[in-house]
Amino acid sequence: MSEYHVPVMLEECIAGLNLKSDGSYVDVTFGAGGHSQSILNNIGVNGHLYGFDQDDDAEANRIDDPRFVFIKANFRYVKKFLRVEGVRKVDGILADLGVSSYQLDFPERGFSYRFDAELDMRMNHGDELTAAIILKEYSKDDLQMLFSRFGEVRNARTLARLIDQEREVADVKTTFQLNEILERVRFGPRAKYFAQVYQALRMEVNQEVQVLEEMLQGGLDVLKPGGRFVVMSYHSIEDRIVKNFFKTGDVNGVLKKDDFGVIDRPFKLINKKVILASVDEVRRNSRAKSAKLRIAEKI
Ligand SMILES: C[S@@+](CC[C@H](N)C(=O)[O-])C[C@H]1O[C@@H](n2cnc3c(N)ncnc32)[C@H](O)[C@@H]1O
Repeated sequence: MSEYHVPVMLEECIAGLNLKSDGSYVDVTFGAGGHSQSILNNIGVNGHLYGFDQDDDAEANRIDDPRFVFIKANFRYVKKFLRVEGVRKVDGILADLGVSSYQLDFPERGFSYRFDAELDMRMNHGDELTAAIILKEYSKDDLQMLFSRFGEVRNARTLARLIDQEREVADVKTTFQLNEILERVRFGPRAKYFAQVYQALRMEVNQEVQVLEEMLQGGLDVLKPGGRFVVMSYHSIEDRIVKNFFKTGDVNGVLKKDDFGVIDRPFKLINKKVILASVDEVRRNSRAKSAKLRIAEKI
């Protein structure tokens, strides 16, 4: 398991869930099952854990335990698939967003600029949109917008224009083809610039913003009062959405009022300030560097 993906802020996440011995929990990003295994270790024989992952490769890590059910599905449908299992309410939900180290390090997946591969980047092979399709079919303006929004690429316009020129000559189908283009326009250190562009494409391929928003709403619906929502994100856009949602129940941070004009907050914040990984953890696991953890309790 540790070879596959080292769980980030494990102790903080488990403490945040405030586990009850006979509680029902959901890990919507099962991955290598590091967080899930720890949840199982900390609940009793009558507890339950439902682990979601949309990636076929994650399914191979399913935990052989009568208290555990693996659900191969996108977490945007968390409410629906829990219903299929006969579950209407749960005591806690954990989300550790993004991709696993395994996905990043597996050349054929096309997530990483370090390996020559087709520009795929789908977490779920059943989906149609790939990074190569985006680079072929999105308009120059749409490319610019996604590089700027999801990758915070400073010269997104220049990059989109060059891709637009290059694809007139040949489709940009592989990571190394894309890298050649990036090398010509890159701004600042190579690793940082490449990572920003690849992240932007990955977020678009997997519709990461939309599915997060849907999962938060579905999660709120299925949480019991007193139930905990524990979300770890690695991108400022995602963290802002989580922060807004926990504060107001709305992904844009718009406060709702009830019929009497009283502000209706669905959560009590367990941590007012975002939780970051310790210096020691970041030293051991560089992936933890950008992690931001937020915990809320349903009122
Ligand atoms: C950061 S890893 C989680 C690692 C996990 N916490 C562990 O300890 O091994 C994220 C995982 O969530 C999955 N994932 C990301 N977005 C998803 C979504 N919308 N629906 C289902 N699974 C998703 C990815 O396939 C990946 O395996």
